[in-house]
Amino acid sequence: MSNICVIGTGYVGLVTGVCFSDLGNTVYCLDINAKRIENLKEGIMPIYEPGLEEIVERNVEADRLFFTTDYQEALKDAEFAFIAVGTPSGVDGEADLSYVRDAAEKIAAVIDHPIIIVNKSTVPVGTGDWVSDIIRKKRGENSLEYYVVSNPEFLREGSAIHDFMQPDRVVLGAIHRQAAESVAALYQPLRAPVLITDLRTAEMIKYASNAFLATRISFINEIANICDELGADVREVADGMGLDKRIGRTFLDAGLGWGGSCFPKDVKALAHMAVLHGTHPQLLQAVMEINRNQRRRVVMKLRNLLGGSLVDKNIGILGLSFKPDTDDIRESPALELIHLLRNEGAHVKAYDPQAMENTAHEIPDLQLCKNPYEVAQDADGLILATKWNEFKQLDFKRIYSIMRTPVLIDGRNEWDSKSLRALGFTYFGIGQGNHVSAIE
Ligand code: NAD
Ligand code: UGA
Repeated sequence: MSNICVIGTGYVGLVTGVCFSDLGNTVYCLDINAKRIENLKEGIMPIYEPGLEEIVERNVEADRLFFTTDYQEALKDAEFAFIAVGTPSGVDGEADLSYVRDAAEKIAAVIDHPIIIVNKSTVPVGTGDWVSDIIRKKRGENSLEYYVVSNPEFLREGSAIHDFMQPDRVVLGAIHRQAAESVAALYQPLRAPVLITDLRTAEMIKYASNAFLATRISFINEIANICDELGADVREVADGMGLDKRIGRTFLDAGLGWGGSCFPKDVKALAHMAVLHGTHPQLLQAVMEINRNQRRRVVMKLRNLLGGSLVDKNIGILGLSFKPDTDDIRESPALELIHLLRNEGAHVKAYDPQAMENTAHEIPDLQLCKNPYEVAQDADGLILATKWNEFKQLDFKRIYSIMRTPVLIDGRNEWDSKSLRALGFTYFGIGQGNHVSAIE
């Protein structure tokens, strides 16, 4: 069993810390956000992530999991220091590395024994070397035995614990193979395939993976828009494509496009890296453009359905988080829709099972409702933005009776168009062949 310090207690850091402690290691989770740490000590989670609270409680009770703001305390006996701080978009789309720098400098300032620094944050290619330089500069040559390993994280929000515990693969990049193998040993109980490579390749695997998944979604959204015009149904197109084992069915759900704290910033950062080094990332640019247009297209459709203007129309939004099972609203398609609709003079109200508190901070004057029916009351249009389970089977008869204009926009292709049309709704999905009617 090992002693581990995890720096940053967000989605990745907290999940990494609690999962490693659940595997029997002693883990110190560290954050500069004192309120966050205070709450964690009292069992209050900073994020909504299914299963997280129970696993934290279990490991705190077992005396294997600790929370602190103190680098000295967290690193005292640590053999591994995982960096899992944020790397948000900078002004030009580059990854902002200021939190990584801060973490590296603080490690260098306190560490007094050999250590492996494992970078789990998503960072531009070359950052592993840069972290090494920071430590070397701070400590001077040969004054400290340390190794830097890149270990990109592939978990998804909403299924983070499952993804961490049952990963498709563990990627490790290092100059010193022995250091990567030491980190691989931490993951050994998970019995996942391990790929050991160099630092830069590991860093690139992370960006390429996210960019590829975003590309699949933009691809199917482009196909969806063509389906709309030609009377084909993109859901079945995706099923038909997905049966080809070379293609697969995952990440081919057409809708309002991708959001979240990662795809938007990571595709942008990869494109930025490419431009900076003299290449022309035209596919990545198209992937981002298609994604932006997906929200605009829905607003345009709604405007057309409501007689050419959204001024003073009441529009309801179901779902605010960027995907179900999380309260994360970073780059959420729902929030972008809200801005576009309000810019056109619409009155917007919304409901989400978990993300209302975060949304209230972000858009304080947005009307938030207690349930989907309050959202539908007197609405001229209702948009499904996030496919939470509780929106799958609503009382549509009731919704029909309380809406002012019964227009439904199914931004996630979740509802049954036939039965909704039979109830009298005007229904518009994404790529369901709405323009030309498909075979009944
Ligand atoms: P987050 O914003 O949820 O959390 C980051 C945490 O780091 C915050 O609590 C912040 O206070 C803390 N922090 C910042 N600077 C610090 C410092 N110097 N010392 C200690 N703590 C510090 O971030 P996240 O969503 O967990 O993402 C972290 C990294 O992992 C990013 O690079 C992201 O791209 C990557 N990633 C995220 C996900 C995801 O699903 N969210 C998945 C894979 C990879
Ligand atoms: C994504 C990746 O799936 C993770 O592997 C990665 O670790 C993570 O980014 C990261 O680097 O942070 P996440 O952002 O949690 O995970 O969510 P996804 O499930 O990938 O969904 C991203 C967005 O794409 C959501 O807005 C979702 O609604 C949308 N999406 C997803 C679609 O529109 N269609 C699909 O078929 C799939």
